[in-house]
Amino acid sequence: MEKVLSGIRPTGNLHLGNYFGALQNFVKMQKENNCFFFIADYHSLTTHPTSHNLHANVKNVLAEYLAAGIDPEIATIYIQSDLPETAELYLLLNMNAYLGELERATSFKDKIRSQPNNVNAGLLTYPTLMAADIIIHKATKVPVGKDQEQHLEMTRTFARRFNRMYNVDFFPEPVAYNFGKNLIKIPGLDGSGKMGKSETGNNAIFLIDEPKVIRKKIMRAVTDAGPTKMNQKKPVSIENLFSIMKAVSSPDTVAYFDELYNNCNIRYGDMKKQLAEDIIKFTTPLRNRIIELLADNDYLRKVAKQGAEKAHESASKTIKEVREIIGIKAI
Ligand code: TYM
Repeated sequence: MEKVLSGIRPTGNLHLGNYFGALQNFVKMQKENNCFFFIADYHSLTTHPTSHNLHANVKNVLAEYLAAGIDPEIATIYIQSDLPETAELYLLLNMNAYLGELERATSFKDKIRSQPNNVNAGLLTYPTLMAADIIIHKATKVPVGKDQEQHLEMTRTFARRFNRMYNVDFFPEPVAYNFGKNLIKIPGLDGSGKMGKSETGNNAIFLIDEPKVIRKKIMRAVTDAGPTKMNQKKPVSIENLFSIMKAVSSPDTVAYFDELYNNCNIRYGDMKKQLAEDIIKFTTPLRNRIIELLADNDYLRKVAKQGAEKAHESASKTIKEVREIIGIKAI
């Protein structure tokens, strides 16, 4: 059985980008594969070092995972800091990770720009921790969005380097995975970039957002002037609305607005109204389930405990072998 792993940082609530980029694919894979899903709380400390609500965020994300359809009886769901083997493998991988390659990571360069007063070592070595998350279970497929592609490339480099340095065929080289050919990027509502957990939260639709909040965010989403020529290429902001619509609406609805656009008859207000209602239809059952799960702390605790035990079984075997390969043995 192939091993599949994915994860998310608990820095806020899950949004449509997380869902369509990573979760949906993972849920589809859980029956046929040996699946691990984890909450990357160590990783979140690279950007939120004094997070006063880390604990609440971890709990939220756990409830959101479960609401999205991850079945803890089939897959293994755990919290990163419950698995110290990951931290040990991270340390060992760091010994063979080079400053130059770590500095070249796009995510690191972005963070230097976005948090110049906190360029910490955790940010620099973010890719080695992520590689450790993946290869501690010898996972081969990693359902993620497009923004994680480079991290997967670096994971393959670290796995390959380990095999070469110690002359073993130990770690497989994992790939970023999507059922479709291409990895997904759900755009944000501000007319550029990707949907993400921005300061204001206005760039993203969260699974937990109430219908009236969704309507407001969508109606405020950036749009361009209407088309003036038939079959005109769509500007980025309009292409973005269509991308979100493709994720949540029926193909007929998308085709309907596409035709209106191409005939220059589109009214963005109408398109946005439809989009908001389709998002609400999609998120409402998830939202209800999240609220239900958050009220059941005993259940969440049980899931986390059971997940930690299952993850430990898989990881302890790997770390034991890694220690032997490197030569860390009893005297
Ligand atoms: P994070 O927390 O930023 O995002 C979690 C997952 O959601 C995907 N995603 C998106 N996909 C499409 N469109 C978007 N707008 C969008 N925004 C987010 C991400 O690609 C990701 O799959 N480094 C990871 C967490 C992590 C991890 C791992 C993932 C740590 N170790 C090991 C996989 C395997 C991160 O920051 O994801």
